[in-house]
Amino acid sequence: MRDFYPEDMVLRNRIFDAWRSAATASGFEPYDACVVESLELLKRKAGEEIVNQIYAFQDKSGRDIALRAEMTPTLARMVAARQGSLRMPVKWYTIAQCFRYERMTRGRKREHYQLNLDIVGEESVAGEAEVLYTAIAALRAMGVPDEAYKVRLSNRALLSELLLSLHVEEKFHAGAFIALDKKGKIPREEIEQILREEGLTDEACAAAFNLMDIRTLEEAEQIAGADSPAIRRIRELFDLLECYGIRDQAVFDISVVRGLSYYTGIVFEAFDTKGEFRAIFGGGRYDNLLTAVGGKPASAVGLGFGDVVIGEIIQALQLPDVRPQQEKILVGYMHDEQRAAATRLTAHLRGEGRIADLRLRPQKPKAFFSLASETATAAVFIGPDDVASGKARLKDLAARTERDIPLV
Ligand code: HAM
Repeated sequence: MRDFYPEDMVLRNRIFDAWRSAATASGFEPYDACVVESLELLKRKAGEEIVNQIYAFQDKSGRDIALRAEMTPTLARMVAARQGSLRMPVKWYTIAQCFRYERMTRGRKREHYQLNLDIVGEESVAGEAEVLYTAIAALRAMGVPDEAYKVRLSNRALLSELLLSLHVEEKFHAGAFIALDKKGKIPREEIEQILREEGLTDEACAAAFNLMDIRTLEEAEQIAGADSPAIRRIRELFDLLECYGIRDQAVFDISVVRGLSYYTGIVFEAFDTKGEFRAIFGGGRYDNLLTAVGGKPASAVGLGFGDVVIGEIIQALQLPDVRPQQEKILVGYMHDEQRAAATRLTAHLRGEGRIADLRLRPQKPKAFFSLASETATAAVFIGPDDVASGKARLKDLAARTERDIPLV
C-alpha cells in the first residue's frame, strides 16, 4: 500500500485537481461510497481477472466483504437502488480508492485511485464521446500534450459480428473476448487453451486470432459487411470526437477488447504514444450491468482513469504543471515581542482568503528568508521597527518586488 508524504501530494493533487475540474466542467455530478463492498456484488459483476484480485475477508458476523477493486459494480448498485427517481441520463463522477491484489509492476500497485466517469440512461455514442472528451480535458489540465497519448478504441459488437461471420456461436463470444484481451500479454498457446476450454474449435481459435490482425476499419468492414451496425457506431463516434476537437487523439484498434466481462459495445483504452507504460484509462459501454444488480434495463457507458500510470508519465516526461501558481505568504518575526503583530497579520491575510503560513517561533532574518525561498511565493518578516511604524514589507519572492502593508 502507498504512503503519500507532502511532496508526493503535489503530484497527486495535480492529478486530482485536473480530474475534478474536468468532470465538473462537463457537468458530471460527484458521488461516493464506502470502500468496503459486499464480496458477492463484486464477484458477480466483474471480469474473472479482477475477481481473482479482490481483497476479501469476513467481518465479525461472518459476512463476506471486500475492499472494492473497481467502482462500477457499486455505481450500478447505487443507480439501481434509485432508478425510479433519478433524472436520466445519470452523469456521475467519483475519485475512488481501489484495491487489487496484483503482481506489482510498473504502473500496477495494490492500491490506486481512479477517476470514474459514468453515464447511465443514454444509448447513443454521445455518451462515449462525452466521457472521452472529459478524460482528455483532464489530461490537458494536467499539462499532458495531445501528442503524448492515443485512445485506442473498438467495439465488442464488431468482434461479435466478425466471430459470427466465422461461425463462432454467440455463446462462446464472452469467453473469446476475455481470452483475446490477453493477446500480447500471455503466450499464444495459453490463450488458445482458454479459447478451447470456452468451446471454440481449433479452426475457430485460429480464425479468432486472425481477427486480431485486422488493422483498419475498412478491413473490418470487408468481413463484417458495409451495413455493419457496429462499424457504423464507431464511425458515428469518430464524427462526434471531431466536433469535440479530439478526433486526432483516437484510433481504431481491434485488439482492444478489455478484460472485464460486463462490456457489451464500444471499448477503449488510452496509452502513451511510445507504448512504454500501461493503460492510462480504460472503459466502454455496458448494457446489462443494471439488470444484473436488480435494476431495470439501462444502457451505460463509463471509464476508469488511474492515478499511477499518468503520474509515472508526468514524471518521466517532466511535464510542467500548467496550473496557475498559488500565492503563499510566509509570515515570520524576529523576537517574542513581535509575535502578537505577526499573528494578527496572519489572521487578517487568511481572512482575506489568502494562504498565509505563520512561523511559530522567532527567527533570524537569514534563516527565515532562506526557508521562504524554498516554501513560499511571498514573505513578510516583522522586526521591532515594523511594529513601531505600524507597517511591514511584503516581498514578492519571484518578482523580487516589495510593498508596504499595514499591521493590524
Ligand atoms: P480497468 O481497466 O480495470 O477498468 O481500470 C481502469 C484504470 O485504472 C486503468 O486504465 C489504470 O489506469 C487504473 N488501474 C487499474 N488497476 C490498477 C492497479 N492495480 N494499479 C494502478 N492503476 C490501476 C475498470 O476498473 C472499470 N471499472 C472502468 C469503468 C468505469 N468502466 C466503466 N465505468
